[in-house]
Amino acid sequence: MKKIIIDTDCGIDDAIAIIMALQTKDIKVIGISTVNGNVSIEKATRNVLRLLHFMGREEIPVYKGASAPLIQKLIRAEGVHGEDGLGNVSLPLGSKMEESVSAPQGLKDLLIKEDNIDIITLGPLTNLAITFNLFPEVKKKVKSIVAMGGAIERGNVTKFAEFNFFADPESAQYLLNLDIPFLIVPWDPIVKIPFSKKEVNEIAAGKGRLGNLFLELAATPIRFVHKFYGLEKLTLPDPIAMAAYLYPEVIKGKIIAGLEMELNYTTMRGMSVLKEGERLEIVTEIDRDLFRNILEKSLKSKKIS
Ligand code: RIB
Ligand code: CA
Repeated sequence: MKKIIIDTDCGIDDAIAIIMALQTKDIKVIGISTVNGNVSIEKATRNVLRLLHFMGREEIPVYKGASAPLIQKLIRAEGVHGEDGLGNVSLPLGSKMEESVSAPQGLKDLLIKEDNIDIITLGPLTNLAITFNLFPEVKKKVKSIVAMGGAIERGNVTKFAEFNFFADPESAQYLLNLDIPFLIVPWDPIVKIPFSKKEVNEIAAGKGRLGNLFLELAATPIRFVHKFYGLEKLTLPDPIAMAAYLYPEVIKGKIIAGLEMELNYTTMRGMSVLKEGERLEIVTEIDRDLFRNILEKSLKSKKIS
């Protein structure tokens, strides 16, 4: 059984990624921490609580984390995720509340208690930078970090930068400096494999309540992309990063290299620049068919192995 912590700025694709982890046998989600990012910290936290209620997994502790990046000016992506951050889908809040301690303290407590933890990050890296800065002794308890973030050739927020790394580049650099095995799933392989609206409908078909939720969640980003680019398609960054962790065979190409954040206040701020090194595994290609398969299996009601 692999034990994981998910750190998330829970918007729409984060929610789908969390469902995938919860639906996978032999994966134990021991905690979820929330961070400001695509949506505010309040919405991200509420969305995780709503999702866990829907999934019947309210025993998982939720820790509310950083409300802003370390230095960077706030940016959000609420247009893509809708007003509540989950496309205003009908997901009621249950009685579950977040824990009384903040994310850095909660992450520290989990890491002290358990060994061999993998951390999957689906948002800006603020919480992790703060946690490892405050409690450096817990770094050795982390087996690996898997992050959706960065862009090698072309970004999505600027020409050069991807949202999660751009939104808090200093925290990203802090993490890149650490000595923990680190798998990065950047924007480049993700943007190559969107699903059409027809495929989204096929993926959801016959999957019951999870299929319906997926369809409802997908509607807002599809509408957003259509409005700005005239195409009805769905790109799934966080689910692809989650799949790369849960099913490494979905990774069709990767390089071993270093990355450095551009931290100067130029048009390139927030860009992740490839450099020589052996520190990171960076995914360059994803098996689209296998990813679709994994996603479909995750939406079936039974847990999958
Ligand atoms: O850059 C892609 C964005 O969409 C990131 O914030 C990622 O986490 C996803 O939510
Ligand atoms: Ca995210």
